[in-house]
Amino acid sequence: MPKRDFLAITDLSTTEIKALFDLAAQMKVGRYKKQPLTGKVLGMVFAKSSTRTRVSFEVGTYQLGGHALFLSARDIQLGRGEPIKDTARVLSRYVDGIVIRAFAHGDVGELARFATVPVINGLTDLLHPCQVLADLFTIREALGGWEGKVVAWVGDGNNMANSWLHAAQVLGFELRLACPEGYEPNHEIFEQAKRNAKVSITELPEEAVRGAHVVNTDVWASMGQEEEAEARALAFKGYTVDRELMALAAPQAVLLHCLPAHRGEEVTDEVIEGPQSRVFDEAENRLHVQKALLATIMG
Ligand code: CP
Ligand code: NVA
Repeated sequence: MPKRDFLAITDLSTTEIKALFDLAAQMKVGRYKKQPLTGKVLGMVFAKSSTRTRVSFEVGTYQLGGHALFLSARDIQLGRGEPIKDTARVLSRYVDGIVIRAFAHGDVGELARFATVPVINGLTDLLHPCQVLADLFTIREALGGWEGKVVAWVGDGNNMANSWLHAAQVLGFELRLACPEGYEPNHEIFEQAKRNAKVSITELPEEAVRGAHVVNTDVWASMGQEEEAEARALAFKGYTVDRELMALAAPQAVLLHCLPAHRGEEVTDEVIEGPQSRVFDEAENRLHVQKALLATIMG
């Protein structure tokens, strides 16, 4: 059987996503007792900071009977310029799967191409598929599913927004993005999603959020964009998810944020701490959904 990578939401079909979530739900309630990673090792190459992704993959691997090896890109020879294709082939001789968090998305593609073990994208500048899988699972828990639901994205057209577009493309729900001019999501990904789902973009957060069932935001300056923070704070003025904006959403709407959050910028403290916020369930679900993913592609 060919190895199975997970580099983008579009690597999975609707049926596979649903099966993954059924398994994750079993794992979440403790009904899953198997240890399919016994004797296996997950290598975790991180070129950027991480709390949730790192800890949930390490803990998840342990809970499935395996061992996780954290490899900071700064400490391994990759950081000194060893080619990705060499790193991929060497690691494949030792480990049974690789999670990678990188800057350039192409680096992850190259690693996957040369690795002979499954590769999982733990975030790139372009995509954050593991997070959006957990977000979809959180929506299923909170609202019973995404069918017929409207998801609003408010803020930067970043890696999260692009993975949301992929999710809409695969699952067919309505996605409305509100992004300032110059901060739109990837053009090709947007056009592709538009062919399969009701996907729209506006500069007005109110337009995107009105009647939405899910309101979703993220930091204005992602990892690697720290020096743009000031210019972005100006460009994103008016894009804060606050009580007034949330009031336009459907009454049962939930707030999602992948975290870490900058309170007072993309979201107010009141909203992220408020009754509609599901951000900590969302963070917890990273563990369950990734365990289901590991069991499926590495088990
Ligand atoms: N949401 C998320 O991926 O968080 P970390 O950067 O802490 O992994
Ligand atoms: N867009 C953010 C997500 C962090 C989990 C970033 O890339 O920094």
